[in-house]
Amino acid sequence: MTQPERMACTPEDVKEFHIGSVLSGGGSCPGDNSPSDWVDMNDAYWQASMDADDEHLAIPLLYGVDAIHGNGNVRGATVFPHNIGLGAARDPDLIERIARATAREILATGVDWTFAPTLAVARNIHWGRSYESFSEDAGIVGSYAASFVNGMQGDLGDEGVIACAKHWVGDGGTTHGIDQGETTVTLAELHATHIAPYRPAIDAGVLTVMASFNSWNGDKCHGHRQLVTELLKEELGFKGFVISDWDGIDYLSKNYYDAIGMSVNAGIDMFMVSVDWQQFIRHLRTHVEKGSVPLSRIDDAVRRILKVKMAFGLFDKPRPAKRHWSNDTRFGGLEQRQIAREAVRKSLVLLKNEDAALPIKRDARILVAGKNAHNRGHQCGGFTIAWQGVEDNESIEGGCSIWEGIRTFADNAVLCEEPLAEGVNPAEYDVAIVVVGERPYAEGMGDVRPGENLIVEAGSQIRGEMKVLEPYGRTLEHAVSHPEDLAIISSIAKKGIPVVTVLLSGRPLPVAPELAASNAFIAAWLPGSEGEGVSDMLFGNFEFQGRLSFAWPKDAASVNDPSCEPRFPLGYGLQIFDGVE
Ligand code: GLC
Repeated sequence: MTQPERMACTPEDVKEFHIGSVLSGGGSCPGDNSPSDWVDMNDAYWQASMDADDEHLAIPLLYGVDAIHGNGNVRGATVFPHNIGLGAARDPDLIERIARATAREILATGVDWTFAPTLAVARNIHWGRSYESFSEDAGIVGSYAASFVNGMQGDLGDEGVIACAKHWVGDGGTTHGIDQGETTVTLAELHATHIAPYRPAIDAGVLTVMASFNSWNGDKCHGHRQLVTELLKEELGFKGFVISDWDGIDYLSKNYYDAIGMSVNAGIDMFMVSVDWQQFIRHLRTHVEKGSVPLSRIDDAVRRILKVKMAFGLFDKPRPAKRHWSNDTRFGGLEQRQIAREAVRKSLVLLKNEDAALPIKRDARILVAGKNAHNRGHQCGGFTIAWQGVEDNESIEGGCSIWEGIRTFADNAVLCEEPLAEGVNPAEYDVAIVVVGERPYAEGMGDVRPGENLIVEAGSQIRGEMKVLEPYGRTLEHAVSHPEDLAIISSIAKKGIPVVTVLLSGRPLPVAPELAASNAFIAAWLPGSEGEGVSDMLFGNFEFQGRLSFAWPKDAASVNDPSCEPRFPLGYGLQIFDGVE
């Protein structure tokens, strides 16, 4: 029932306390972060869990990671587009293939379990986790849920990895998109928007569900018996086990002992306790001795955990170092990268294409500019190598930047890294490709929040505590939060060079001035390691098929006002061969 983070728990601890699971938080990597380092780490934990003694049986340990867009923590892994881009592809079969390819690269590291898919239905793009959501539309999210679970878990044989539908429930519906905030909706709305995508995942046999940090109508999900036991387990018939989110029980009460009792009795089965896990064990033991947590609840939790381990065949698998896929040399290999490149192509949405700026001729004289043109870290976004992502090229081994992808197609392309491209002579270029957008972020550090009064307001409704992180910015208006992008687009456009703008972002953004200054404009989301998927589209090798899975706002003010007409509606997307402006 206890899942410590690897940095707070050694194999000796696993043996002494008979720990059933360990996790890596985002960016928590062993050794020099190679697959073999991961296999060695998991082998040591597994061995310790199997070292039976007269008090304890040999019960194999489960290791969990956030492989949410490929096994993104690990050096050299294939990094797939984040979910917001996959939502634009409208391709459940692709999702199943991505999940299967990801499972292979998870198994190569000896890991059994990924905390994915995220089934959030993000309703407010101020939320820093919008990119982890497939769509603002519950139907699109639901259409992917079973595909992902089937691809990831397979038939639970050697090729399968345990999946985890998260975060239960209503994570995408918080007021103003505040991460871990308050979701105020009726039960009917909760069902229609936030619960609906879990049904296909449960029907597909997802083995774990993660509880959500947010509160529903003031009550935190981590202590909500109606949501966790009555709804998820009894009404929806979920037979796997529920894991808490990262120290999520802490926010139920200032008194840790009370918080533990509330969360266990609510129906949570396994507890992601990053550091203070020995205290957790002591408190829970006291609760059972005092009867404030009935032994039947413990038996139910343990039975569920053991049933998942048995369903996964964990008792029959060899040690991680001896498993079929461990250290598989196809890790980060061409087969997975081709699927990722296809996913990039299918995720791009063409928002504008005037004067047939696209497709670009391969022999055109091309100026490539913008802060995100040659930055694999920016392409990948959060939960890549580090929790908050990285901002360089070297950390992302394999794949290529968008600039590197362009260069393989076009002989006359030049990369200009001047912030305003001042030295550029317009007579030397036929077209410019300017790659701009956001920098990497994750969770609450990706929130956009005009003022802290919103936190006070949301927090005042919550019975419990709210964890607040430093936000990414104060406005979604891109020209205000990232003026460097409009500056370079305008500077080049003023030289008379047609501009094709590519926006890398974790969400739709109000970009009216950037759009006006561009001849063509592509939403590329967070495409991941395979930058060639973008150049595939720029040169017309493939037709655009991406369709917005989030409405695109015309300005920052309209984001909180559903009555406002969007700049581009859900489902919008142009084509270059028959599309017209
Ligand atoms: C984080 C996230 C959750 C993730 C977990 C482990 O706080 O909320 O999605 O799976 O912790 O890293």
